[in-house]
Amino acid sequence: MTALQHVKLGTYYMVHLPEADDFDFWRERARALVQCDVPPDRVAWVEPGGSGDLFAHGERRMPVPPIDAKPVRANRRFVSLARNAILHSDPERFALLYRLLWRLQSNPRMMEDKADPDVRRVEELDKNVRRDSHKMHAFVRFRLVESEDEEVSEHYVAWFEPEHHILRANAGFFMRRFSNMRWSILTPRGSLHWDTETMSEGPPAERHDAPGGDPMEDLWRTYYASIFNPARLKIGAMLKEMPKKYWKNMPEAALIPDLIAGAQGREAKMVEKGALEFEERPDTLAAIDKAIHGCRKCPIGQLDNHAVMGEGPQDAALMIVGEQPGDQEDQTGRPFVGPAGQLLDAHLEKVGIDRRAAYVTNAVKHFKYVQRGKRRLHQNPGAKEIDTCRWWIESERAIVKPKLVLAMGASAARGMLGKTVSISKVRGAPIPLEDGSELWVTAHPSYLLRLDGPAREEQARLFDADLAAVRARLEELA
Ligand code: URA
Repeated sequence: MTALQHVKLGTYYMVHLPEADDFDFWRERARALVQCDVPPDRVAWVEPGGSGDLFAHGERRMPVPPIDAKPVRANRRFVSLARNAILHSDPERFALLYRLLWRLQSNPRMMEDKADPDVRRVEELDKNVRRDSHKMHAFVRFRLVESEDEEVSEHYVAWFEPEHHILRANAGFFMRRFSNMRWSILTPRGSLHWDTETMSEGPPAERHDAPGGDPMEDLWRTYYASIFNPARLKIGAMLKEMPKKYWKNMPEAALIPDLIAGAQGREAKMVEKGALEFEERPDTLAAIDKAIHGCRKCPIGQLDNHAVMGEGPQDAALMIVGEQPGDQEDQTGRPFVGPAGQLLDAHLEKVGIDRRAAYVTNAVKHFKYVQRGKRRLHQNPGAKEIDTCRWWIESERAIVKPKLVLAMGASAARGMLGKTVSISKVRGAPIPLEDGSELWVTAHPSYLLRLDGPAREEQARLFDADLAAVRARLEELA
């Protein structure tokens, strides 16, 4: 890592950034400069490897903000755009962000001005960076290499060429997704190494440092062929999503012409395809948690999301099952923390069920969505996806052994029973389960959220009545 330098030259300040993606460093320096009233045209931001020739005369230290300096204003929108935009490869990004921060002090609503060229530019940088990260999530391909270390049986190496400084920012994504694999991602901007416990960084690499052409490629091809959904084939959209420039690192790209040609026949086969096979059932909640993060048995696991594990006491008498994590659950990694979760909490409290004593989980472990601009819109999981994910909910149930399971909504009920039931027909009475426990079915709280007026009141009343019946039954079973 380069030593940090910040030098004042005459009336100009030169800030040397230690890393091209160091937001915290930029923020700290930018704050001090704003507090010292240094206008944007008197600051040069120099990233590693960059030169500060423009201001190469005179030298002074960074100014120290006065003790009574005003706090620096930066709204949430600015901070979230800036965090991402700083990863862009445009050398002007630091200056742009400083200019925005400077202007925000006198115009706090500036970020809302969609016509402002600086605001537009930062939004564009943010978009480019998000797109680059999305491509990285989708197109990194690991190849198995022989390890020199005898203790290490398998090491997977991937080569990727990001357009921006996104490598470090995406380390967590790959760590969670491939947590029990030993892997390295090599890029011309640096490398990441994960040994199943710790992450380390390495220097930039070259294409020939990464392997190419081995049995893993066959695996990828098989895998890709199995997730390729002929029913949704749209060639134009596919090429947009998977630009040809990424194809050279993707063994399965060789399959694309054949897949397109055989799409119709495969569609019929897919419909007939039976249940998927799994390995041995995990016997601890921690093992399930680990395993679901690697689960790619259905297309939901291919999206840019994180698995969300159930939470609550391992010996809970009550298991509450929802449909799938939503946007906020996906981001926080916890079930029922978003709007549906808050409504659920309120109803549980009203009828006297302590959520902390229950094990709360979902029928489907990953968030299914469609991207609309910046928003991820919830999509209902299909019957096949729910059935595939039953493996996990059953594994959780085998460990927690609840006396009573409350399934909220049709997807949760299907996750428990393996068949679709009508909520209005089955609610309010127990359904015996094969292990002697019982299932109660009610509506999903997000159904209530979609209603208003008398319809909402009526459904809330039914929901409370179902919860109250569950509470009474739990007391009988205690
Ligand atoms: N909806 C669900 O079904 N589950 C969650 O965890 C959140 C919302």
